[in-house]
Amino acid sequence: MFGCISRGSRVGGRIRPCSAPPRFARPCVLDDGLVPAIARPWILTANPRRPLTRSRQGQRRPPSAFPVVDGALQPAHLHVYQANLHNSGVCQQRYLKYQEQAMMGGGENATTRHTQRNKKLLVRDRLRMLLDDEDYLELSPFAGLDLDYGSIPSAGCLTGIGKINGLWCVFIANNATVKGGTAYPITVKKQLRAQDVAMQNRLPCVYLVDSGGAFLPLQSEIFPDKNHGGRTFYNEAIMSAMKIPQVAVVCGSCTAGGAYVPTMAEEAVIVHKIGTIFLGGPPLVKAATGEEVSPEDLGGARVHAEVSGCVDHFAPLERDAYEHARNIISTLNFELPADENEAVEEPLHSVEDLKGLAPRSYNHSLDVRMIVSRLTDGSRFQEFKARYGTTLVTGFGKIEGHLVGIVASNGELTYEASLKGSHFVQLCDQRDVPIIFLQNTAPKPAMTPSQHKAEAHSNRLKAQSSMMAAVACASTPRITVVIGGCHGADSYAMCGRSFDPNFLFLWPNARVSLVAPGCSDALVEEEHDVTHLKKKLEEESSAFFSSARLWDDGVILPQDTRKVLNKCLKIIKQQEYQLSKERLRAPLLRM
Ligand code: COA
Repeated sequence: MFGCISRGSRVGGRIRPCSAPPRFARPCVLDDGLVPAIARPWILTANPRRPLTRSRQGQRRPPSAFPVVDGALQPAHLHVYQANLHNSGVCQQRYLKYQEQAMMGGGENATTRHTQRNKKLLVRDRLRMLLDDEDYLELSPFAGLDLDYGSIPSAGCLTGIGKINGLWCVFIANNATVKGGTAYPITVKKQLRAQDVAMQNRLPCVYLVDSGGAFLPLQSEIFPDKNHGGRTFYNEAIMSAMKIPQVAVVCGSCTAGGAYVPTMAEEAVIVHKIGTIFLGGPPLVKAATGEEVSPEDLGGARVHAEVSGCVDHFAPLERDAYEHARNIISTLNFELPADENEAVEEPLHSVEDLKGLAPRSYNHSLDVRMIVSRLTDGSRFQEFKARYGTTLVTGFGKIEGHLVGIVASNGELTYEASLKGSHFVQLCDQRDVPIIFLQNTAPKPAMTPSQHKAEAHSNRLKAQSSMMAAVACASTPRITVVIGGCHGADSYAMCGRSFDPNFLFLWPNARVSLVAPGCSDALVEEEHDVTHLKKKLEEESSAFFSSARLWDDGVILPQDTRKVLNKCLKIIKQQEYQLSKERLRAPLLRM
């Protein structure tokens, strides 16, 4: 899911510290040994159980004075740890299987057609040329797998956030080996989510367009509704007005609706003999007028760079196009800070332990502080209201030097826990501290079985509503990681998808459903229905089912969580360095 192979040694002069302001790239020198992206490349070794201070530039800084949280595993918990570990192993196998499926794109024949007959680069090779390195955050790589209308690897397009000349940018890149890059409903959803990420985090956005337009057999699920295809173009205008820069590279077909992606972007590049833009292709022209015309003459690079003006840059070869795109990004008005030389403490415990802490089920949840102690710098955690509402753990810590507030489920979201959650979320908001939610909610909703419990339940309802309001209205960035269960209303208060976190990831053991499998018996009467519902919940609540439908930004392995959070926090912070941000009254007008 995430690449990290530095290509600094392969591409002379293109890598520079992210702290330096973007500048124009030198002519690109690429070798031809393009290796396939490695989706989960961190080989994390166990940390010694003592504080380590890692310096970014060989300097030391005093460690944070937050207390060290006790994250040691007690012998009494060993059997739970072992059961979790076994389950994590099974989940990881499934993760690797899906990853392989996603990496294969449209399969061997389509890949040969794409590269040999159509003479185009594969989407990951394109990204290698566009981005500084492969240390990018890919979003939802498992989207589109095993859907009702088929398996659409990576939903037919890669989205994510990578650096271009030191600047984090969202990329949306069609994979034309998957049905000619056509847009399925899930493709549209993935593109819109990537634009959302760009908007919420104020990130420049680069589109690599190579698409046959809408997948016609499913047109009714792509065209008419608010969050269907047209929303992409609406967003382009709104993003432009918000001063979120957008660049398009036409490296394949842009047909019908797809033609508006480059023409609504602020700057567009087209590749000679490969890129085409038209509302209706040659077959339509022939059907309408009887004329025979080549794609090149109808809407090729020369036509659009020299006659129509639909694009702004002509690239003789694909690699030139990515160089143009990189240079365009260098013209953006960002001023990045100098290197901070910050010393960062590693957690005292190995991140690998998280595999044994990832709960196989709610009953296998250990104290969430053990998880926190494997995520924060030096395992330090300044706990807030430690003795009140103990089923929610709240407090401050640092992740690779970034100060964060942590809100972590440690049992049911009770009345007291919800009040504490509201208080802490507002505190973080007040101080502009980003919040990390570690979500593991109870498997079934709290019922009101007797009248005398009704008052307690009503109070809990009010307190949870108050926490939901605090979470919904918090203006500070929020990142949610579902480390176990994501069930019922508790998941809203813990910043579920509908509460608009900047990013939401799932661990592979996560379960996402209104009630957990096996907890629905009271809700249906017939035994047959109970069995049927249980089976359905079992299938539909898996993390992979969720990620295939884009209810999250991807499944991440527990041991990668600290790295992913660090990357997200850096990405979110970048908006502080954009020099001019006020919204324009009108979007940029193209000629
Ligand atoms: N809807 C559904 N299927 C489509 C499609 C569309 N809009 N565009 C392409 N496909 C399918 C093809 O049928 C083919 O399927 P197959 O692999 O099962 O045979 C596959 O995508 C690849 O298309 P193909 O034409 O073989 O590949 P190519 O690389 O030579 O050309 C395109 C790709 C996109 C340039 C070409 O297919 C095309 O022009 N498609 C029509 C585009 C169009 O008119 N879109 C209007 C949509 S509103």
